[in-house]
Amino acid sequence: MTFYRGQQLPLEMHKVRIIQKLTLLPIEQRLEAIDQAGHNTFLLQNADVFLDMLTDSGVNAMSQDQQAAMFQADDAYAGSSTYTRLYNKLVEIFGMKYFLPAHQGRAAENILAQVLVRPGDWVPMNYHFTTTKQHITAHGGKVIELIKPEGLEVTSDNPFKGDLDVPRLRNLVATYGADSISSVRVEAGTNLIGGQPFSLANLLEVSKACREHGLILVMDASLLADNLHFIKTREAACADMSIREITRAMADAVDVIYFSARKLGFGRGGGICIRDEALYKRMRGFVPMFEGFLTYGGMSVREMEAITIGLEETMDEDMINQGPQFIEYMVNELNRREIPVITPAGGLGAHLDAMRFLDHIPQPEYPAAALASAVFIASGVRGMERGTMSEARDAEGVEPLADMELVRLAMPRRVFTLSQVNYAIDRIDWLYQNRRMIGGMRWAEEPEILRFFYGRLEPVTDWPNELVARFREDFGDSL
Ligand code: F0G
Repeated sequence: MTFYRGQQLPLEMHKVRIIQKLTLLPIEQRLEAIDQAGHNTFLLQNADVFLDMLTDSGVNAMSQDQQAAMFQADDAYAGSSTYTRLYNKLVEIFGMKYFLPAHQGRAAENILAQVLVRPGDWVPMNYHFTTTKQHITAHGGKVIELIKPEGLEVTSDNPFKGDLDVPRLRNLVATYGADSISSVRVEAGTNLIGGQPFSLANLLEVSKACREHGLILVMDASLLADNLHFIKTREAACADMSIREITRAMADAVDVIYFSARKLGFGRGGGICIRDEALYKRMRGFVPMFEGFLTYGGMSVREMEAITIGLEETMDEDMINQGPQFIEYMVNELNRREIPVITPAGGLGAHLDAMRFLDHIPQPEYPAAALASAVFIASGVRGMERGTMSEARDAEGVEPLADMELVRLAMPRRVFTLSQVNYAIDRIDWLYQNRRMIGGMRWAEEPEILRFFYGRLEPVTDWPNELVARFREDFGDSL
């Protein structure tokens, strides 16, 4: 953050040299588009979207060095020197001897679940991610979330809401025995609770408990870049450490690191770094079975080159602070307008609290889904529902209500300008003034697996058309 006439503003340490033209459809066409998409922002056509804040996955802007490296890729089915460059970079950064490539993060989760999860056993973690939980439960494992209670407080000034509650982990071991635990998972930049980081101190405590009981500790490093930024800027004991030193301290504390390179490394791919040879050998066979040969694992060599450079750039504070600083700006501006938003600002994106934004909509009517739809109608900004719609029904068909009803407005790195962010804030502000007009949703079509990706909803009343009419009263002919 840099001071500019008394106000704190994020200042980009890069310039934009390649652009993509955007269109902003009139609100009537935005309503038509979201209607056709079953009010599910995943089903929108990107051409109908103005600012795509669905995710930061695979849509971050690359650096010129990444793009240049893509031209040097070594096309080979086996033994590509592109793989060697990626492998060497991972060893340099994380210090683990073994690496298995995979086509994206969930593919790494598949391999980990195949090897680590035993039916009926626990998989404790700070918090679940959708695809993680699906893989673990599909193998009969039981996910248990050990996030500290503060982690679920929507508004807070706790800098590390992603911390795992170590006494509860120790309790779990004492109650059921270490043998009943398949592995322990910590997720950097905890996605579903608002991109909230854990501290290095907490990770070291988790690690100590795991080592005392011989438990394998796995770190999901997909959102590591944000977590690194927060450790550096929020954890006093780490203020003098370089990003590289913090990274190594984190890696040294765990046994396995897996990641989605659609986030970590600003590319598209994924993989698993493993310390132990025996464990590596147990996982290895699944790569050719599900992904591709061991030296590409489903990734294109061009993407692997980009990831190698992206990982190096992740060690640069000026490269990894752009996302969190834009998010902090957006969160602070929303908060200043009293619009309910998760605080403190995390990584990944700004998260609107639909439970408070739409406190008149009962949770079984999917307030977060309704808000995601309303945000798109009002602005052309595509966010993502992260609430009950993103949960899965249990074996009896009962739908768990989510801990939080959020609309995530992701901040792809180095993609949007501050005026675009200000536009989004202004439209959300208008929506907040008119929030009582927004109504609930119900399923029109509910898939069994990962329903939020392609399920279709419909409004319980005609609120979307009424909202468009109000917009026209307030905005006249404007888009
Ligand atoms: N773990 C975390 C913490 C993630 O955020 C993601 C993906 C994955 C694993 C799976 O990785 O998509 O490469 O298969 N998060 C994306 C998102 C989908 O939009 O937050 P993937």
